[in-house]
Amino acid sequence: MTMPQRKLGSTGLFVGEIGMGCMPLSVNGRPPEKDGIKTIHAALEQGITLFDTADAYCLNSTENGHNERLLAKALQNRPEAIVATKGGHIRPEGRWETDGRPEHLRQACEDSLRALGVEAIALYQFHRPDPKVPFAESVGAVAELQREGKVVHVGLSNVSVAQLEEARGIVTVASVQNRMNLFDHSSMDVMKRCEELGIAFLPYSPLNGMGNARGIGSNETLSRIADRHDASPQQIAIAWLLQLSPAILPIPGASKATNIINCAGAANVTLSAEDVAELNGIAAQTTA
Ligand SMILES: NC(=O)c1ccc[n+]([C@@H]2O[C@H](COP(=O)([O-])OP(=O)(O)OC[C@H]3O[C@@H](n4cnc5c(N)ncnc54)[C@H](OP(=O)(O)O)[C@@H]3O)[C@@H](O)[C@H]2O)c1
Repeated sequence: MTMPQRKLGSTGLFVGEIGMGCMPLSVNGRPPEKDGIKTIHAALEQGITLFDTADAYCLNSTENGHNERLLAKALQNRPEAIVATKGGHIRPEGRWETDGRPEHLRQACEDSLRALGVEAIALYQFHRPDPKVPFAESVGAVAELQREGKVVHVGLSNVSVAQLEEARGIVTVASVQNRMNLFDHSSMDVMKRCEELGIAFLPYSPLNGMGNARGIGSNETLSRIADRHDASPQQIAIAWLLQLSPAILPIPGASKATNIINCAGAANVTLSAEDVAELNGIAAQTTA
């Protein structure tokens, strides 16, 4: 795969065009550890260097940091790999809940440092605004962790444009990670603001999420365009994101090596203006 280097924003942090979302390696349905490590190594072999994780990627709170520990094990002696993690979600009995209190974020960050076995986290993303905690307090806590050298770059996730602007008043924001794919354009305004500001935008669930990814080819428009390019529908979905904005760095999730290898192949797909126009219409078709 050709993976032209592309720096995003002023950080110089991102050097790949496609990252890997590592959540499927640690949540329900996850593979045995040795297979998960093979998938991470397959991604590296494709030139993927950005690995997205979170302390909450685990089955439940008894094993917080499962995904981070797996990455640390798989990425030993691979200095080219950049691990981006997150704090702000908790998993009591497997539920997804938020905890954006400064004291929680401090503890979560320190636990992530230990799980990853690093002195500083390359990109620490505040996972999701907590309605119980003023947003500025959570962001302020992450800014403090950065001042202490525990975090190199700060990212946000699941934020609105207004929250991005509020956070920018507190800290330098290196990236935003929101849900975005062919079927869900709800964060298009956030993505455009990131592009204006030179901030990286990491669209999560680029294949429409774990439960839907395999079946996206049942969309007639997508399947037709995939056939035209002799590509998989998943490759077309990623190629569409890559062509949408120079700020975008998709992070397809995969637990199988064959799947991340297939996703990496999206870097070789060039969509025509006509393809893009047709693909742009899919979200409207599916929400109509
Ligand atoms: N910030 C947040 O709140 C948030 C929320 C959700 C996700 N994320 C991040 O974003 C990443 C990606 O999102 P996601 O995992 O929810 O959804 P996704 O990337 O849309 O879909 C993931 C699923 O796609 C399947 N897949 C991957 N490549 C494929 C291919 N070429 N052909 C067929 N199926 C393929 C994988 O199956 P196999 O597992 O069988 O390989 C995987 O289960 C996550 O891993 C996580 O890092 C962040």
